[in-house]
Amino acid sequence: MIKVNILHKDELYDKVFKEFENEFKIKKKLCLGLSTGSSPIELYKKFVLAYENGLMDFSNVKTFNLDEYLGLDLENENSYHYFMNKNLFSQVNIQNNNIYFPPTDEKKISEYEKVLEENPIDIQLLGIGGNGHIAFNEPGTSFSSTTRIVDLAEKTIFDNSRFFKHISEVPKKAVTTGLENIMSSKKIILIAIGSNKAEILHKVLKDDQVTEEIPVTILKKHSDVTFYIDEEAAALLK
Ligand code: GLP
Repeated sequence: MIKVNILHKDELYDKVFKEFENEFKIKKKLCLGLSTGSSPIELYKKFVLAYENGLMDFSNVKTFNLDEYLGLDLENENSYHYFMNKNLFSQVNIQNNNIYFPPTDEKKISEYEKVLEENPIDIQLLGIGGNGHIAFNEPGTSFSSTTRIVDLAEKTIFDNSRFFKHISEVPKKAVTTGLENIMSSKKIILIAIGSNKAEILHKVLKDDQVTEEIPVTILKKHSDVTFYIDEEAAALLK
């Protein structure tokens, strides 16, 4: 059962922050699953502020990002490495060797899967793609998928082109954590902001359907998932 919280944006980020703050309080060594995109930016700002005020300590935190584009330099401003560095890692006291991303080199994936097994994610942050993808698990992805290289869906390339100068610059491939990996997280928080998420949220939450055609529906089988949805994204839910 997915818990759904529909909130004004400000309150939404306060509540999500509290979910994370709570994990920081109860775990000495914490494994965070992190995402990119527009939805986590406000949350990362709160992490940075909390760190600066001595309220959050990242020295014993490991982070695992969900995905990364293939074919972009890691210093490219559209790479997820760059995004995470800019919005979070460079501003808090996380140790470099505690930062993990799925490897863009296919040969290193099986090794990475072992790292994931040894470090179960305590709390996983997710966004949702307009087509129902989570991480870069596009419609049609097997529910038993693990980390792998994928082709991006046309819709994802189009949606994500807003960050690039031209749509032709958007990579067509990525490496992503699989749905099985995501499901093994102990707790999952999904943030959906804005009217372009309204349609997919309605599709997902209107009934009990669980289908590989809409990857995010797998979350209905997890025991601890909360969706934080702003009023615009929730427009079709009432
Ligand atoms: C990208 C990422 C996803 C993210 C999604 C939603 O496609 N690969 O991990 O969740 O965008 O992004 P946003 O937060 O901008 O809505």
